[in-house]
Amino acid sequence: MKEKHFSFSARRHRRLWRLLGELAEQYWEHAADERTPVLERRGKHRARGLPPRGRSAERVLREAARYLAQNACHLASPRYYGLMNPKPAPAAVLGDALASVLNPQLAVEAHAPGATALEREALGWFLGALGWRRGLGQFTSGGSEANLIALKVALNDRLPGVTRRGVRGLRGWPVFYVSEESHHSLEKFADLLGLGREAVRWIPTDREFALRPEVLAAEVRRDRRAGRLPFCVVATFGTTSSGAIDPLAALARICRRERLWLHVDGAYGGSLVLAPKFRRLWGGLRLADSLTVDPHKWLAMPFPLGAVLVREGRAAARPFQVQAAYVPRGRQPVESYQLGVTWSRRFLGLKLWLALQVYGRRAYERHFAEQMRLAGFFRRALAVRPQFGTVSESPLPITCFTWLERERAERRNLPVESLSKREQRMNLALAEEMVRRGWAWISATKLQGVTVMRMMVINYETREHHLTRLVRDLERLARKPV
Ligand SMILES: Cc1ncc(COP(=O)(O)O)c(C=O)c1O
Repeated sequence: MKEKHFSFSARRHRRLWRLLGELAEQYWEHAADERTPVLERRGKHRARGLPPRGRSAERVLREAARYLAQNACHLASPRYYGLMNPKPAPAAVLGDALASVLNPQLAVEAHAPGATALEREALGWFLGALGWRRGLGQFTSGGSEANLIALKVALNDRLPGVTRRGVRGLRGWPVFYVSEESHHSLEKFADLLGLGREAVRWIPTDREFALRPEVLAAEVRRDRRAGRLPFCVVATFGTTSSGAIDPLAALARICRRERLWLHVDGAYGGSLVLAPKFRRLWGGLRLADSLTVDPHKWLAMPFPLGAVLVREGRAAARPFQVQAAYVPRGRQPVESYQLGVTWSRRFLGLKLWLALQVYGRRAYERHFAEQMRLAGFFRRALAVRPQFGTVSESPLPITCFTWLERERAERRNLPVESLSKREQRMNLALAEEMVRRGWAWISATKLQGVTVMRMMVINYETREHHLTRLVRDLERLARKPV
């Protein structure tokens, strides 16, 4: 190919792709280096005007990669114990690049037959595991969008008048229930759906930070007596702060009795459904009406990749049924654009499809098992130190923990209400100082209003020696209070 307009010659093109591969390698090495601060800021970006003429692609690529590598929170560091953000698996990165090259438009099957088939196949793996034979799924930009779609599907399914006349056509005010540990996206969406933020009923949590079903049941009864229209319960399978799992069987019973839609936000933990070995943990998800899963969390996909799965495909399509004259007719009874809010759709599913072909299901099973094992290792290593204890120990590899003013006999699963103000202040200070020094990325969070430290094993390259270093670094910082 000659160099013309946007195109590169074939030789140059190949050279640039090779360069991209080298830059990827260099970045991952840099991020994993013991000496690299996990949060790095070096040099300032000098804003320049829009360049009238172009520059060498090699140079621009190198410059951008260098600047970005030196000014980043390194999710690819094995010392990043952060907010569910993974180092992407290399096969998934290749899949994402291939999706950009092919750039199919997935709104309708007739425009992207192969891409639609692969996406539906990948979604089918989740639906198959759940046993949802009549189900439908859709890839999304993430868990937030998936939750939005699920809430909309729930609303239109339980209060069908909404589709034509909106909320104003209803005899009451639709409300839904979440735990106090649920993700904040749900609050935004209550407003976006025209219900208002007060339509979110926050249910308190128990000792394990899981939703209390008996309080939920009482709250539903109270709302009904007041003439409100309860339509949905959102349970969480792996809360953001502590990895808590809501009691799915009990919630499903209440939902059945009260004719409420049960959505499960499994943005983080839902990926486990690909692992039959862990069915004892995720089996209850089969009882849900819909499920959010975020492969860009535990499945090590590059952003963005979420998914919403709905047990009854017909319900999934109801809110999004529109027709336009210019839409090519396809073979699918429900097209992709009729399963969510977007029209043009990137080939999001390819990276997941490709990674699962390359690594296979068992590699993911081992990945989950290893991260859970490492969480156990960290909890034990931490709790033998007199100055630290755990406050939450989810079956998933997220741990909330605390600095202790005084040594306590038992240092596992301490009740949060027993933490002093000084301990809470120290938790915040230690988490921030750890990041400021670049030793590791951990954070502070609140559980039932109490400030604790939080870490999770999320990078597939984290090993025991990294966690030993984390505990040592925590001790070192705690000796010289900041
Ligand atoms: C439980 C839960 N739900 C939803 C989300 C939102 O997911 P996303 O960031 O992919 O929109 C998160 C993000 O951390 C989460 O932890």
